[in-house]
Amino acid sequence: MSAPASAVPAAVVPAHVPPDRVVHFDFRRGPDFLADPWGVLAAMTAKPDIVFSPELGGYWVPTKAEIIDEVFRRHDLFSSRQISIPRVERRAKSIPAGLDPPEHGKYRKTVTQMFGGKTVMGLEADMRETARRLADAFVKNGECEFVAEFARRMPVDVFLKLYGLPESLREEFVSWVVGFFQGANAEEMMAAHNKTVAYMSQWLDEKMKNRAGLEGHVLPALAAAEVDGRPLDKEEMLSMAVTLVNAGLDTVTSGMTHMMHFLATSPAHRQQLLDDPALIPNAIEEMLRRFGVASLARVVDHDVEFHGVQMKTGDMILASTPLAGLDPALFDNPLKVDFARENKRRHTAFGAGPHVCPGAMLSRVEFRIMLEELLPRLRNLRLAPGAPLDYTSGITLALKKLHLKWDVA
Ligand code: HEM
Repeated sequence: MSAPASAVPAAVVPAHVPPDRVVHFDFRRGPDFLADPWGVLAAMTAKPDIVFSPELGGYWVPTKAEIIDEVFRRHDLFSSRQISIPRVERRAKSIPAGLDPPEHGKYRKTVTQMFGGKTVMGLEADMRETARRLADAFVKNGECEFVAEFARRMPVDVFLKLYGLPESLREEFVSWVVGFFQGANAEEMMAAHNKTVAYMSQWLDEKMKNRAGLEGHVLPALAAAEVDGRPLDKEEMLSMAVTLVNAGLDTVTSGMTHMMHFLATSPAHRQQLLDDPALIPNAIEEMLRRFGVASLARVVDHDVEFHGVQMKTGDMILASTPLAGLDPALFDNPLKVDFARENKRRHTAFGAGPHVCPGAMLSRVEFRIMLEELLPRLRNLRLAPGAPLDYTSGITLALKKLHLKWDVA
């Protein structure tokens, strides 16, 4: 997890940074950013290809989609030893997200197996059942707070199935996830995170005592995995299990919320999907492009000149997927949502290169089921009048709450 950004002062601009590259850009707490993140990101795309922000301890910011894509891929230059800004000194390895090739590759196969087509297909009926159950609870009310009542809950249910955890854990698990991602301060976030780790640790001990008959999709893959010809040890399993929770819950919640927010404000786009639900997969790609959520980072591995910029060992560099999606050099009129946009799939919402998101297929199915199940039931969907749009930002750019209304027959 990340250090509280407020605790990290702006850096003195290092001597190797040319003054004309300095742009104050704070993608976590900047008041202008939180008031209008998409506007600030769109404005960043007009800056030089790579700028340096002294905020949050100081970091390079590539402002073009092509260069952001390259940062994800060039692990020879940019290491995943640090993947968040401000940097965090970790006590334990984060597997696989915090490893570089070739070590990363030893674990990657296990993770991709967990979320392959077979797993996702096997979960589809459960996901639909979850979406219907959650919708049943609020459709008749004509209103909901979408984050708490749907977007946080559906991904948690999917995780319980993936991990073979009991449904009785649902409410507790939701409370840990909310505490971790939305805690009021670092202590609250850490306390919630520690509960997840403690639970997972005990659960792994119990389950791995007798490796036969393991349930879900994660445990059998962890039990079968081998690294350097040996089984995974407990620390490795725990790290992977916890990394998945951190990587696969808030991101999906945030993506769902941006999509529903947009659709609640655009009856024409909503109607297109109601008239032709076969458009939904295209619509998802376009909304992933337009409303990217994940901002990862890398640490510069050795002194290097990159696109004409001198970078020093240990410098931090941002790879912002929301910024990449708004680059007009790649996407015409990027703030416009156009489900028919030809190159909409060229977004980097799920990263690129060796760490490209293994949960992308699962996420896409969650989004599709959400739209298929909710849109026909929320007639004349709209934002609740007067409800504030309150953004929170870090590795994930999210709306804290989304108050929706619709007509009840
Ligand atoms: C809309 C939803 C999601 C978004 C936008 C997203 C985005 C990303 C991005 C950008 C990366 C690359 C990180 C890097 O290069 O440092 C990534 C990696 C990862 N994601 Fe996702 N993700 C989503 C959902 C999920 C889900 C549902 C899961 C798990 C079930 C998941 C598991 C992971 C893992 C384990 C990694 C690290 C992979 C590695 O290091 O090899 N993600 N994700």
